Amino acid sequence: MSSLQGKVAIISGASRGVGCALARGLARNGCSIANLDVIPPEASFASIADDFKVATCYVRCDVSDAKDVSHAVEAAFKELGGKRLDICVANAGINKNVPFLDTTPEQAQELFNVNALGVYYLAQACARIMIRLPPPPTHEGEERQAKSSSSKSIILIASIASHQCVPLQGSSAYCATKGAVKAMAPPLAFELAKHGIRVNSISPGYVRTDMTNAYPDIQKKWAGNETMVKRLAEVEDLQGVCNFLAGDDSRYVTGTDILVDGGTRAM
Ligand SMILES: NC(=O)c1ccc[n+]([C@@H]2O[C@H](COP(=O)([O-])OP(=O)(O)OC[C@H]3O[C@@H](n4cnc5c(N)ncnc54)[C@H](O)[C@@H]3O)[C@@H](O)[C@H]2O)c1
Repeated sequence: MSSLQGKVAIISGASRGVGCALARGLARNGCSIANLDVIPPEASFASIADDFKVATCYVRCDVSDAKDVSHAVEAAFKELGGKRLDICVANAGINKNVPFLDTTPEQAQELFNVNALGVYYLAQACARIMIRLPPPPTHEGEERQAKSSSSKSIILIASIASHQCVPLQGSSAYCATKGAVKAMAPPLAFELAKHGIRVNSISPGYVRTDMTNAYPDIQKKWAGNETMVKRLAEVEDLQGVCNFLAGDDSRYVTGTDILVDGGTRAM
């Protein structure tokens, strides 16, 4: 795995759950982390600086508010030194278990505002900073490789729900928002390639987090019947793909989606 030593990442929704695990995975490989979230960091984020000897910061931010995102990204960038921004992970998201015919406009709008527009705003604010920064110095031996590849990476967290319905939940609007996330990765990748920025999405399957812990009976069914590996994902199961997409081992991977679903889609 290529090193992330000295790199700087901004992650939304890293106060807990998947975002926190992705932050820990990047930090373990030497990356400094800024967490943009509406809630304060839980202990597993707060301990990253001590655990991995990297810089971290928390900036309160509602990703559904474009101005808030723009200010928070600038503040986080400055707090982590103001010289580098290598990785953006647009992870913050919400879900609502509500049948299609009962979904109110307010519920649908909130889901789109956070899950789809929140991802779009964060990727845009981070890309603007990445583009205005001079490229980091390269070691001589790496020069040829660096010229033909991209060291900056934007990772969007989509979902298995962007590939198929989630039959055990009322998830029509959630699925639609995640489809939007998956669909925005290719055009963003296309437009940002000339700036040396790669853009990909990750589609997790069913993961054990606060988002799904509210439905223990559904979790049991997912684990039993809807994965090949007969268990839910733990948040740590997502770290490998995120680290891969963040680093230069994935220098030729852009505009695509990677499913991390224990075989659910393939069943
Ligand atoms: N848990 C799963 O099974 C699963 C499956 C596929 C995809 N995902 C996606 O993974 C991502 C993380 O989900 P999770 O399971 O860790 O959920 P979670 O609820 O545990 O964590 C979500 C985080 O996002 C933050 N957040 C919510 N709204 C926000 C906003 N408006 N602005 C800033 N931060 C906000 C929350 O405060 C929280 O820290 C989401 O995008 C989710 O849709 C989750």
